[in-house]
Amino acid sequence: MRIRTVSNALMLLSFAITCSFSALLVDQALGQGAPTNLQVYPKDTTREALVADMRQFAAALDVRCTHCHARREDGRGNDFASDANPNKDKARAMLRMVATINNELLPNVPGRDDPPVVVTCKTCHRGTAKPRLLSQEMLLAAHQSGGQGAVDKFNELKESSSDIGAYDFREGETNTVAENLAEEGKYEDALVVYTMNIERFPESAAIWFGMGSAHENLGHVPAAIEAYEKAVALDPRSPAAERLKELQAK
Ligand code: HEC
Ligand code: HEC
Repeated sequence: MRIRTVSNALMLLSFAITCSFSALLVDQALGQGAPTNLQVYPKDTTREALVADMRQFAAALDVRCTHCHARREDGRGNDFASDANPNKDKARAMLRMVATINNELLPNVPGRDDPPVVVTCKTCHRGTAKPRLLSQEMLLAAHQSGGQGAVDKFNELKESSSDIGAYDFREGETNTVAENLAEEGKYEDALVVYTMNIERFPESAAIWFGMGSAHENLGHVPAAIEAYEKAVALDPRSPAAERLKELQAK
């Protein structure tokens, strides 16, 4: 079965990773004999090899075994063979997807490196259970609770993910959120996000231009002019120059 290649690649990687948080559970799993419910891995995969991969899944998603595995009914430990936790079948779909990417799709890329770059769970997940970009997380939050929701989400993820490196906290990613909100006509929400971003990057012509544009759309002409002027002072080629001319001509 094709998956053998991927699991081998994943196993190779596992030697490089030490993750001790689940050591207890792993010992417990290792003591439970051969796997009985493998649908993606070859049936003869040993428990040791399997659990080495499992530890990598947990590390790649920054989750515990119980993210995908159900607890035993008597509450004592995990029932690893059970499929009661829906994330286990999601993970099976992911295993098949990663196998298809590595074994069927990537070989079509001309002139690949040798050895080739291999896609693993972490390539996408980067230490998050749901591999969303920062801008996607912020937009979801903005759609639920406005511009302040997006700012709160930014601060929460900046605080919680600093060592994982899962998110892009540079100005462009946050500006994307504000631009999206402006495109949706939510200029007030966009301004809340631009305001947070300009506090972090006060020298950014792109942010000042975005703020000017949001103010202009809200009819705040003096504030728009002020923001556009800052943009042009920082970067004379900013599109703010054009907007300024038009506003001042009125
Ligand atoms: C991201 C989801 C995910 C995480 C996290 C995860 N597993 Fe799994 N686990 C699976 C999937 C999927 C299978 C079934 C593979 C198959 O069908 O070939 C499985 C199967 C197993 C099995 C074999 C059960 C059997 O009898 O068939 C064991 C043992 C196991 N996992 C242990 C662990 C341990 C220990 C951890 C924590 C270190 C862990 N798993 C974390 C997804 C996960
Ligand atoms: C090509 C990118 C990519 C790779 C590689 C990848 N995933 Fe995912 N994964 C996703 C996306 C996107 C989602 C969200 C799917 C959805 O619900 O729309 C997801 C969702 C999941 C979920 C469900 C999480 C939840 O809370 O609903 C699990 C579990 C998971 N992945 C496990 C894995 C494992 C284990 C691997 C490695 C074998 C892996 N993924 C590799 C992109 C990827």
